[in-house]
Amino acid sequence: MNLHIFDNESTLARAAARMIAERLRADPHAVLGLPTGRTPIAVYAQLVAETASSHIDWSGVRTFNLDEFIGLSRDHAASYRSFMWRHLFDHVNIRHEHAQFPDGMAADLAAECRRYDEAIRGAGGIDLQVLGIGANGHVGFNEPAEALQAATHRVTLHADTRAANAGWFAGDVSRVPSEALSVGMASILTARQVLLLATGEEKAEAIAGTIEGGITTRLPASFLQLHANATVMIDRAAASRLTRLEAAPAGPADRPATP
Ligand code: GLP
Repeated sequence: MNLHIFDNESTLARAAARMIAERLRADPHAVLGLPTGRTPIAVYAQLVAETASSHIDWSGVRTFNLDEFIGLSRDHAASYRSFMWRHLFDHVNIRHEHAQFPDGMAADLAAECRRYDEAIRGAGGIDLQVLGIGANGHVGFNEPAEALQAATHRVTLHADTRAANAGWFAGDVSRVPSEALSVGMASILTARQVLLLATGEEKAEAIAGTIEGGITTRLPASFLQLHANATVMIDRAAASRLTRLEAAPAGPADRPATP
């Protein structure tokens, strides 16, 4: 994995937005896999700014979000669909039908999971998959478990994951849905390029396991070690538990370091 450590969130956000923007400039028909969460907010703000300043055309771009809560209407303020329109899609010229989400209100959720995987396949797969990470190492909503799912699937959220999402529900964890739909590990691992983002001390342990630990279903992000083109961008706080880095010579903050 290519590891980049940044002094702070805004330098990280600029670098991540630059990587996404470069992909869109190189391929105006790129297929992006996108995350929600606090971490990508600054990245999306930078991407919006870069889109305006360098006239990036999103009209041919297609996006597939990683996940969505079950049982929230599309326009619910805390739905991941609302989040994406608020932070990114409303500010770029993406076509409405090109921004896809698993539908957590579908009458037949199993059929919806199959539809979503077929839509990703039909688009030619994901070119660049951007990921956040849960403090327990989840990616999308692929929670730590005995076994991971390859395909888009229905998930029961762990209590700590619901607590981490309570901020989207005015801090009231009882309002956080207990289930979600999430793409599986196969769509993430078959993306042609992966960009994992993490900031803050609360992600430090998950990041240490992801980069330096063994591959385990107990830390889903650790499977990214198998990916041939994965970049990890983190801030110093999220890097604070990386032990092998201590021996590495100090370099500029955003210099790529090999763990
Ligand atoms: C949620 C999302 C994940 C995201 C994670 C971390 O659980 N399903 O895709 O990566 O939160 O979010 P944050 O960036 O807010 O820490």
